[in-house]
Amino acid sequence: MTQLEQVKKAIAYINKKTKNFKPEIALITGSGLAGSVPPLAKKVVLKYADIPGFLRSTVPGHSGNLIFGVYKGKKIVVMQGRFHYYEGHPMKNLAISIRTLYKLGVQKLIVSAAVGSLDLKLTPGSLCVLNDHINFMCNNPLIGNHEPEFGPMFFDLSEAYAKPLRKVALDACKKLKIKAKEGAYIAVTGPNFETPSEIRAFQKLGATVVGMSVVPEVLTARQCGIQVLGLTWVTNLGCGLAKEALSHAQTIAETKKIEGKFKDLLEAILPKL
Ligand code: HPA
Repeated sequence: MTQLEQVKKAIAYINKKTKNFKPEIALITGSGLAGSVPPLAKKVVLKYADIPGFLRSTVPGHSGNLIFGVYKGKKIVVMQGRFHYYEGHPMKNLAISIRTLYKLGVQKLIVSAAVGSLDLKLTPGSLCVLNDHINFMCNNPLIGNHEPEFGPMFFDLSEAYAKPLRKVALDACKKLKIKAKEGAYIAVTGPNFETPSEIRAFQKLGATVVGMSVVPEVLTARQCGIQVLGLTWVTNLGCGLAKEALSHAQTIAETKKIEGKFKDLLEAILPKL
């Protein structure tokens, strides 16, 4: 089956359940940030597991719902829980959910994720608004996966993260007194955290934050012309930059602290997109 056929199956199910709701903005919530979704009117919640063709999320802290609704006049779809390469999904399957969002009518995508910081000044609790990325996953969801319906094989990434959207986010952070900075995300496969030597290498490569997701989603979105805003929350300094060892429990505990702030930020940003 082609991905277009797979996406069409998902869309047929979704359209039936949402009565042909056409979202313009999509939001993907990362580890522990599922509780940051603003209150939506006309809400419809679909479980990933019930959507034909969709993948299943297997990580604790990733709930796995596709939520539709309206926030201050904006039609929104939320992917509450994402899919990771380290779960064992074939890389090209990571394109399916984003391609489904595209075919539903999404034009703007907010990707959120927990990250480790490579910048000592960007401490836990701060936000890094992505202005670029480095794909260090040594893989790409678009390899062997070109279907013209989803955009050109070769496409430009000089502004992978839309400047006007970044400005909206940074202005909102200023108003809400959230410590924020622009920076580049380096994507690794995980599931392990990095070694101190890797963190030092990534600093030298010019990355600001490190994480195990985002990039496959952004590549797929950019190929089909969706504008992207990357909002990443620092849960820890990169391995070796702080005394304590890293753990997923710590990532979840730190994101719990951020959840409320992130909800305020989304409520400020969404009406302006
Ligand atoms: N490394 C990779 N991914 C992460 C980290 C990290 O230090 N923290 C949260 N997600």
